[in-house]
Amino acid sequence: MDAIASPSFLARVEMAPRDPILGITETYLADQNPRKVNLGVGVYYDDKGKVPLLECVRRAEAQLMEKAGPRSYLPIDGIPTYNSAVQALLFGDEAVAAASIITIQALGGTGSLKLGADFLKRVVADATVWISDPSWENHRALFESAGFPVKTYPYYDSATQGLKFAEMKAALSGLAEGSIVLLHACCHNPTGVDLSAAQWADVVEIVASRNLIPFLDIAYQGFGESINADGAIVRRFADTGGPLFVASSFSKSFSLYGERVGALSIRTASSNEAQRVLSQIKRVVRTNYSNPPTHGGHVVAAVLTSPELRGLWERELAAMRDRIRAMRQQLVDRLKTRAPNRNFDFVLTQRGIFSYSGLTKDEVARLRNEYSIYPVDSGRICVAALNSQNVDYVAEGIATVIG
Ligand code: LMR
Repeated sequence: MDAIASPSFLARVEMAPRDPILGITETYLADQNPRKVNLGVGVYYDDKGKVPLLECVRRAEAQLMEKAGPRSYLPIDGIPTYNSAVQALLFGDEAVAAASIITIQALGGTGSLKLGADFLKRVVADATVWISDPSWENHRALFESAGFPVKTYPYYDSATQGLKFAEMKAALSGLAEGSIVLLHACCHNPTGVDLSAAQWADVVEIVASRNLIPFLDIAYQGFGESINADGAIVRRFADTGGPLFVASSFSKSFSLYGERVGALSIRTASSNEAQRVLSQIKRVVRTNYSNPPTHGGHVVAAVLTSPELRGLWERELAAMRDRIRAMRQQLVDRLKTRAPNRNFDFVLTQRGIFSYSGLTKDEVARLRNEYSIYPVDSGRICVAALNSQNVDYVAEGIATVIG
C-alpha cells in the first residue's frame, strides 16, 4: 500500500518544447519592453496594433443577438447553412447543387486539417504525407500525430527568394501513387511565395495523372489578390474529377481567431460516395469533440448569405489586404535607407500576411534579445503586425542585426 509514496507516472513526464509559433506569443506577452513587437503569430492587426472586430461581424452579431436563439447541440457536422455557404465560396454554386462535395464545419484551419488527417489515416493508412520545404510548422506535427510519415518536397529557393519549381515538379512526379500532397492554395505560409497560374496547371496535371491525393490548405483567402483569385486553385483541382481535400479557415479573413471557425471539404465522385464519406467523418468528429460550437459559424453564415453583409466583408477584407501591401512597401523603403547593402525588394512580391525575411536564427535571437521584436525562428515575419508606429523601429532592429 505504498503506492502513494512511489513516484507518480506523471513524474516521468518530460517538458515538451515550446510551440514554435504560439510559444513566441507566450514569451512576447511576458516581455515588459513597451516597444515590443510580435511578428510571430499569423494575426492581422490594424494600424493601431489591435486585432480588428470587422463591421460585418459586428452587424451580424447584432442581428443574432436580437434573435437570441437557444444553444442546443449543433449537428455533428455543423450548421447546414454555414456548410453550404462555405462550399459555395470555395467551389461555386453549381458545385453545391451537384452534391458530390461534402463540407463540414470544423475548428479553424487546424481542426479541419486534423479531421482530414484522421479520416485519411482510416482509409489510406500506409500513405506518406508530403509537405512543402518549408511549410507551416504545425503541418508536420499534425499529420505525424495522425500517424503518417511526413516528408518534404522542394519549394522555396533561398538563393532567388523564389520557387524551386523544376525540383518541386520532379519530386511530385516521382511520388508513389496514393501519396498525400499538402499544398498551400494561396499566400504560402511561411514564405509568401505562391505558384503562378501556369505552374499550378503543371501541378494539377501531375497530381491527377499520378493519382496523388491533394490536400489544399486555404487559411488566407482574400489576402493575396482577391477572394475569387485566391480560391481559383480549389476549383481547378475540383474540375479534375479526382478526390480533393480542402481545409479552410475564417480566422484571418473574418478576424475571428478565437471562435475557431473553419471547414473541411472533400470532393468525392458522387453524391452516394459523399454520404458514405460524411458518415465516417462524423464518427471522427463525434469521438474528438462531438460537435462544433455555435457562435462563429452562425456569424460567418449570416455574413456570407446576406448580399449586404457579404459586400461589406469583401470591402473590409480588401482594406486589410491593402494595408498589408502598404506595410510591405514602408518596410522596404525604410530598409533601403537603413540597410542599403541588402536588397529587400522580394518582400514586395511575396503575398499574404507573411514575409520570409531571410533573417538567420542568430539574427532573430538578437532581434528578440536587443529589441523585443519577435519573428519566428525561421525568419518568418508577420507583415500584418507592422503599423505606422512600429515599422521604423522594426526596420532599425533588422538593419542593426544584419549589419
Ligand atoms: C500562423 O502560422 O502563425 C497561424 O496559422 C497561427 C497558428 O496557429 O500557427
